[in-house]
Amino acid sequence: MDRMIIFTGKGGVGKSTVAAAHARKAAAKGMKTLIVSTDMAHNLCDLFEQELGREPKETAPNLYALEIDPDYEMNRHYGSIMNAVKNLVTGTASQNLEAFDDLAMFPGIEELFSLIRIQEIYRGGEYEMIIVDCAPTGETLSLLKFPELLSWYMEKLFPLGKVAMKVLRPVSRQLFKLELPDAQAMNDIERLYLKLAELESLLKDRDICSIRLVAMPEKMVVEETKRSYMYLNLYNFNVDGLYINRVLLEDLGNDFFDEWIRLQSDYIKELESVFAEMPVCRIPWYDLDLNGTEGLDRIAGDCLTDDELFEVRCSASNEVFEKTKEGYVLTVCLPCAKKEEIELYQSKSDMILRIGNFKRSIPLPDTLARCQVDSARLENGRLAIGFSRNWAQ
Ligand SMILES: Nc1ncnc2c1ncn2[C@@H]1O[C@H](COP(=O)(O)OP(=O)(O)O)[C@@H](O)[C@H]1O
Ligand SMILES: [Mg+2]
Repeated sequence: MDRMIIFTGKGGVGKSTVAAAHARKAAAKGMKTLIVSTDMAHNLCDLFEQELGREPKETAPNLYALEIDPDYEMNRHYGSIMNAVKNLVTGTASQNLEAFDDLAMFPGIEELFSLIRIQEIYRGGEYEMIIVDCAPTGETLSLLKFPELLSWYMEKLFPLGKVAMKVLRPVSRQLFKLELPDAQAMNDIERLYLKLAELESLLKDRDICSIRLVAMPEKMVVEETKRSYMYLNLYNFNVDGLYINRVLLEDLGNDFFDEWIRLQSDYIKELESVFAEMPVCRIPWYDLDLNGTEGLDRIAGDCLTDDELFEVRCSASNEVFEKTKEGYVLTVCLPCAKKEEIELYQSKSDMILRIGNFKRSIPLPDTLARCQVDSARLENGRLAIGFSRNWAQ
């Protein structure tokens, strides 16, 4: 079955190395594999010791590699669209449209085109295994929340249809305080919108796609990894593995390293308890340059030995609606979240969760549309939101 695994983590922790080791292993097992890098700081060419380009290149039997150039992708497909989107996103006064707050924060919309390219490759059906070497977590998270934000925004603003759009355009500036795209861009926007909807459903398809985090046992990285895990859950992505890279081995017999080993072991314990529900793989700190296929195969041989390495390893949904005696409960998995930072709003059709700069709208089933939130409890990384029927309405 076709499968896609996305590797992400803080900058420099070893994402590319770990992703590439998986790609080598998958290809050696006979799967036709593509490794794609969406990080602007590409280094697959160093790892595979050859020039790579904008189209997949075979680097070994069954193993193809591609370094995506988002500018190239953008120009290839969507000539006029970027201007239209930029006008919409950065448009004029927008206080009355909540969505703009979030869109305006979106850094580097261009990178979204990398993910769209991957989705097209997936749909082409040529590869059994697609390994994505992603940008550092901060950027990845912005990208991952974007399809959802954009669809939300499009649905709110564009149910009007094209005819209405033409009529509205001359007055849109005054009326809506925003720039509506012209007809040509509208077609492009519709195409982009459809692609984003497809992309989002691919990324959230738990039979196909999962995200694995790469970390190192040190304070800043551990903190960022926990936050990323929480945000990925907030957006209902399936995280199904953690890799702790650069673990010092225990028998170095050197005081300086002994202290580091002690520190590392505390952070490893912490990570293992946060990620207790999924496989955690430790990768030693090698005393050699890992660039090159020999280094990658060494990691694969030493550490990537799990028989189910390429399976989806946990797939329970992060969001569950249940009927209870009093009404309904929506449970959302939010590991490592703090109670005081979660804000909840209920709109007619959505439950809106906000944590810091991240906002997620969870569509409510019809049965809940006439219910009201009457409780919220955070326990063991799970937020339980209680709804009761509101007969007065
Ligand atoms: N376990 C390890 N032992 C030794 N060096 C490592 C290990 N993992 C990664 N490296 C080295 O660290 C550097 C950064 O790794 P890289 O995979 O490029 O990180 P990222 O993609 O997260 O920025 C590379 O030079 C790589 O060879
Ligand atoms: Mg990298």
